[in-house]
Amino acid sequence: MNRAEIIHWLRTSDEAALESLWQEADAVRRREVGDAVHLRGLIEVSNRCVQQCAYCGIRAGNRTISRYTLRLEEILASVALAQQFGYGSVVLQAGETPQGLPTEWVAEVIQEIRRQAPEIAITLSLGERGEKAFETWRLAGANRYLLRMESSNPTLFRKLHPQHPGWEFRLAALKQLQKIGYEVGSGVMIGVPGETWDDLAADIEMFRSLELDMVGVGPFLPHPQTPMGTEKPTFNDELTTLKTIALTRLLCPGVNIPSTTALAAIDRESGHERGLSRGANVIMPNVTPPSYRQLYEIYPSKANTSEAAETFDRKLKERIWAMGRTVGTGRGNAKRKPS
Ligand code: 5AD
Repeated sequence: MNRAEIIHWLRTSDEAALESLWQEADAVRRREVGDAVHLRGLIEVSNRCVQQCAYCGIRAGNRTISRYTLRLEEILASVALAQQFGYGSVVLQAGETPQGLPTEWVAEVIQEIRRQAPEIAITLSLGERGEKAFETWRLAGANRYLLRMESSNPTLFRKLHPQHPGWEFRLAALKQLQKIGYEVGSGVMIGVPGETWDDLAADIEMFRSLELDMVGVGPFLPHPQTPMGTEKPTFNDELTTLKTIALTRLLCPGVNIPSTTALAAIDRESGHERGLSRGANVIMPNVTPPSYRQLYEIYPSKANTSEAAETFDRKLKERIWAMGRTVGTGRGNAKRKPS
């Protein structure tokens, strides 16, 4: 599929044609990664951040939120919950905070998690912390790293990240992570102000050319306490998000694709299911201690900020079974690329 064809799909509202896209994406998903839905326990380790991303509610410039970093015991308790639920992986996510999360401390946390949960895959999502930190954490036992590109268009990337040295540094960080031996995930927000169809099509092509193991996408959700909160989004709707998931499955058949929380935030009823039936095969339930969740508001009314992890987990598994899918067991590693 070339750029023009991707754009055609992104723009179409022909329901019969879209039905064939959904079916093909679902068939490729089943053939390549099977019916199992892998669950990853998301732990929002810290909302401290030195970055000034123009869209993100926990950007350094937002002085209206109080900042926290979980203690080791709190992180291990969250991991214990994920273990109790049988999740194959935990994701340690945080704002970018070298001071709040010193490299050595994170390495110790990783080692403690490994001691407590020898089988679990440890995924990090801690931003751009430099090759040295990436290596230290990999040696400590981390397996995967998530670092979204946010946009493949360097000009749009700059608008999104006014204080960042530039898109090519993000690209370099992704390459470092791959070289160090992580399974690497990236992704974009969909429909940010100023984004064009061509940009989104290029994003999807880039997922393929980067040979990613995981691709996460979700709609851009304006946050009032950010510079972009008042600008007009372009196509941050559910249909465009679902098309992006389906097209990603077709272009990158073997990757792990989450049905994201941002998608569920714009369709609480069935966002997760719709993602799963149009190409996605992963969900990342939040296992952060509930009292911290409202402080991790990267976008407004993030789904599942109050519900206890136990309730969410039980309902989620029921919904997965009701779709005729199964709950993944084991780590749910990415399919190894043919070498
Ligand atoms: N709307 C949607 N997604 C957002 N993210 C951050 N802020 C927003 C927002 N306002 C996403 C980014 C980031 C991920 C952790 O959350 O893509 O990589």
